[in-house]
Amino acid sequence: KQVSLIGAPTDIGAGARGASMGPEALRVANIGPILESHGVQVLDRGNLAGPSNPWQPPVEGYRHLPEVAEWNRLVHDAVYAELSVGRMPILLGGDHCLGLGSISAVARHCRDTGKKLRILWLDAHADFNTSALTPSGNIHGMPVACLCGHGPKELIEIGGLVPAISPKWVRQIGIRSVDAGEKRFVHEQGLEVFDMRYIDEMGMRHAMELALATMDANTHLHVSFDVDFLDPDIAPGVGTTVPGGPTYREAQLCMEMIADTGLMASLDVMELNPAIDIRNKTAEVAVDLIESLFGKSTLMRK
Ligand code: ARG
Ligand code: MN
Ligand code: MN
Ligand code: MN
Repeated sequence: KQVSLIGAPTDIGAGARGASMGPEALRVANIGPILESHGVQVLDRGNLAGPSNPWQPPVEGYRHLPEVAEWNRLVHDAVYAELSVGRMPILLGGDHCLGLGSISAVARHCRDTGKKLRILWLDAHADFNTSALTPSGNIHGMPVACLCGHGPKELIEIGGLVPAISPKWVRQIGIRSVDAGEKRFVHEQGLEVFDMRYIDEMGMRHAMELALATMDANTHLHVSFDVDFLDPDIAPGVGTTVPGGPTYREAQLCMEMIADTGLMASLDVMELNPAIDIRNKTAEVAVDLIESLFGKSTLMRK
């Protein structure tokens, strides 16, 4: 397996500064060498260089829209280039607005290659806001809606085809914070959401069994891992913590079940914010979980 690390050091879509330091914190936590220890060939492509954060208030429901568009174009091009040469991109965020560039590139690659796309969105948030629904104007709360065609022209057109994806391709896990208008829109669009209530009642195992069902050998599985998916007890280093998330064990099982499919072909690791972290522990837990995504297990498998 050949993997390319792509750093996207920006907090352009977030409501707190600091996710711009995420890529380096993941490198400091040894993401490269640790993946190599699992037999993966890792090439670190370094960091993309996009516009700096002007830290301005929202304009017509969007904060930093031109800069967000520019960053997402850079991410799209970088992710698409890796996929085109048969390498697996791992996007090191950066805030989650960049899921838009990443997944629009993945969707384009799937159109090129006739693959079926499935997106696992691991997050405390649905990130399904629009400019009319958002309480904050922060575009990291909007990437899923934009991918489904609901957003400004300069964001929804990044991957070439509008909409880039169908809501039917998305499975969201760990959700526990959805804004009032966003809630209605998630329901209307028919997103498949395994929220914390579902995980509490049915368990992570059952949630993942359903989320991973109906894939086959022709499926490209994209995992978009917002680190705030995790309970803040184990992952305090994110800008938008929400209590009551998956425990370390539940998160491990989630990652292991994804690894067992053997279908993961691209990954985003987003929203890590070293400015709020405690001695890089959130980066370390993220890397630990990524190891499981790449097949780390206690005993021999299969
Ligand atoms: N729903 C809130 C908003 O739209 C928070 C979004 C948080 N998103 C994230 N990727 N951390 O402002
Ligand atoms: Mn491919
Ligand atoms: Mn998110
Ligand atoms: Mn989130």
